[in-house]
Amino acid sequence: MKKILALFFTLCYYIAAMAQSDQQKADALVKKMTLEEKVGQMTQVTLAVIAKGGWGNQDGTLDASLLKKAVVDYKVGSILNTTAHAFSVDTWHTIITQIQDEVKNTRSKIPVIYGLDGMHGQTYTLNSTLFPQNIGLAATRNTEYAKAIAKVTASELRASGVRWNFAPVLDIGRQPLWSRFPETFGEDVLIGKTMGSAAVKAYEEDGLKNPTAVASCMKHYLGYSAARTGKDRTPAYIPEIELREYYLPQFAAAVKAGASTIMINSGEINGEPVHASKYLLTTVLRKELGFQGMIVTDWEDIIRLHTRHNVAISPRQAVVMAINAGIDMSMVPGDFSFYELLLEAVKKGEVPMSRIDDAVKRILVLKYKLGLFDNPYPEAAAKNNFGKSSYQALALDVAHEAMTLLKNKDNVLPLSRKAKVLVAGPSAQSISALNGCWSYTWQGKEEQWYPADSKTILQAITDKLGAANVITTSAKGFDNAANFDASKLSAAASSVDAIILCVGEDAYAESPGNTRELALADNQIALANAAAATGKPVILVLTEGRPRFISGIEPAMKGILMTYWSGKKTAEAVADVLFGDYNPDGVLPFSYPRSMGEVVLYDRKPTEEVREVFNDNINTGYDPLFPFGHGLSYTSFEYSDLQLSSTTLTAATKLTISVTVKNTGARDGKHAVELYTRDLYASITPPMKRLRAFQKINLKAGEAKKITFTIDKNDLAFVNAQLKTVTEPGEFEIMIGNKKTKFTYR
Ligand code: BGC
Repeated sequence: MKKILALFFTLCYYIAAMAQSDQQKADALVKKMTLEEKVGQMTQVTLAVIAKGGWGNQDGTLDASLLKKAVVDYKVGSILNTTAHAFSVDTWHTIITQIQDEVKNTRSKIPVIYGLDGMHGQTYTLNSTLFPQNIGLAATRNTEYAKAIAKVTASELRASGVRWNFAPVLDIGRQPLWSRFPETFGEDVLIGKTMGSAAVKAYEEDGLKNPTAVASCMKHYLGYSAARTGKDRTPAYIPEIELREYYLPQFAAAVKAGASTIMINSGEINGEPVHASKYLLTTVLRKELGFQGMIVTDWEDIIRLHTRHNVAISPRQAVVMAINAGIDMSMVPGDFSFYELLLEAVKKGEVPMSRIDDAVKRILVLKYKLGLFDNPYPEAAAKNNFGKSSYQALALDVAHEAMTLLKNKDNVLPLSRKAKVLVAGPSAQSISALNGCWSYTWQGKEEQWYPADSKTILQAITDKLGAANVITTSAKGFDNAANFDASKLSAAASSVDAIILCVGEDAYAESPGNTRELALADNQIALANAAAATGKPVILVLTEGRPRFISGIEPAMKGILMTYWSGKKTAEAVADVLFGDYNPDGVLPFSYPRSMGEVVLYDRKPTEEVREVFNDNINTGYDPLFPFGHGLSYTSFEYSDLQLSSTTLTAATKLTISVTVKNTGARDGKHAVELYTRDLYASITPPMKRLRAFQKINLKAGEAKKITFTIDKNDLAFVNAQLKTVTEPGEFEIMIGNKKTKFTYR
């Protein structure tokens, strides 16, 4: 024990000493820098600024004079993004090597930090492994996967010579219209907090000098996902009590997990653009959460304080506002205007030198931590970590666990492997509709950049059943009219045992994903009705990033499988579930609404629970098509023996909760066990339930396991009217599966 302690303290000492020395090195370097060099460090431009031909450049060739202009003349500290699509590992190496070579021609020789969006795997390197989007990852309820995916993403980024990842997204998905809903962990705070901070830790824990780590970037701070209209980058109105209850905890947890950087929300809250909010950037993030890392803007967001938000009367005022609010680095990213404006502002005394020095030190500390001063070039050791076969196996495991079986009438699934099936619908021959945004291109739609061995659902099913047993009426191209030919579908159905109808959404990202309608597209609804009219059992396979309403067709569907956008192995996972080679265990990370008039979330308030109908109060206020946490299995699980270590909890104690879960069916299966609590009375109307803990377990047929959870008062806390996070004395209900019991907090 003594030895372990001694080792621990020595380790702590070295870690502290290292951190200190990075800080000291940064302090010393800042003192030697000119104002121009400092402002340059705070400037981030996009690759198109230095690439031959700019935007649309196809091969990553740099323009020597533009490179010199950015790195030597403007002394930029950071470069991001690609020009059109993913590049090979070697192309990235060439790009980054050329950039760092150019740094040698500067006076200060400060390496450039390159950043990319590795959102569900390394987006912008050809043949990287793509995993489920966060929404699918959340459906697994398996935090180990959040870690494992982040490790692979870090390795593949670093193998590409890139040491800064713009991930994870920590925005909560409570507005299903929002086009970035698929990038969220869904509507629950705890899942976002747990999986988000697990990802942060996994990105960074090996130590940023290590070729398996990257600097993470929590994003998009704060309240980005709550746009009132659901349109990307439009105003949110969030009372502070709600901001602190639902939007802030994920960031607070990720700061604690050690995130090195943070990106700011492009939108505005209560009329104040977040990039101009000294309160959110400095008071809350720096002082209250204690975040020491680097704050970067999102795309072009400083100038937009002037050009879009109209809170800054001039571009220079926009720069002054943002930097004084607490921004360290500007993702300008298309020109050098920020550099010129900030120089001018400092010279005029509108931004104090102390603020500039503070920002630059944070940037330099990050670069020291990442080992960029020791070796800024792509690392040979890192390259070996690209494209390991274990990544493909992980992608399949996670995709399997993401699959969420929403409906299985008369146990229509699994289908027999001897069945003859008709595979139809626009997603059947699509790869982009299985991967979604940030997949080799920003929008994810260009299939020529996907790995050659990516499969469509049609291919995966054909592989399983043999070509003789599969017919299709689907065609390549999500919007291809041939996909919606109802009469062809009806004719083809006559010879099959079942119809597998693949519908949903094609890939989209950010504003191009804004939609006027959340109902499934009319032509897909018509196709589903035509399929149902054949009298053959129809299995609806949903490939979508957010819930598209299907209430009209749902009764006619025998089976419904939600696949989300689950990455490289989606098709294989779908086929495995449909034909019984995998027993599904995913559960919804959001409430699947019936329609726009029924968007009520699972942690509804009591007045949302009860719907008044004349003099009758009925408990149908929460009436989604499928509730949060719903997901079927081919086996069954029974809960028994819910026990508490005590019927009272105090501030000084912990409560251990145990329950026995038994697999009562004939198949082995995994299962998400979720613990909810309900505060019966509180000073702020208490939600009907809140998820407080979850575990993914694996049970053989017939096997039973005792599962334990430990909670304390912090797990029961909420934000009160004084904006304090408190736990009030009183009675609480605890719910696991169909069991419930009570305890008192005093
Ligand atoms: C997105 C960010 C992303 C950035 C850089 C922005 O449009 O909002 O999430 O990191 O672009 O690609």
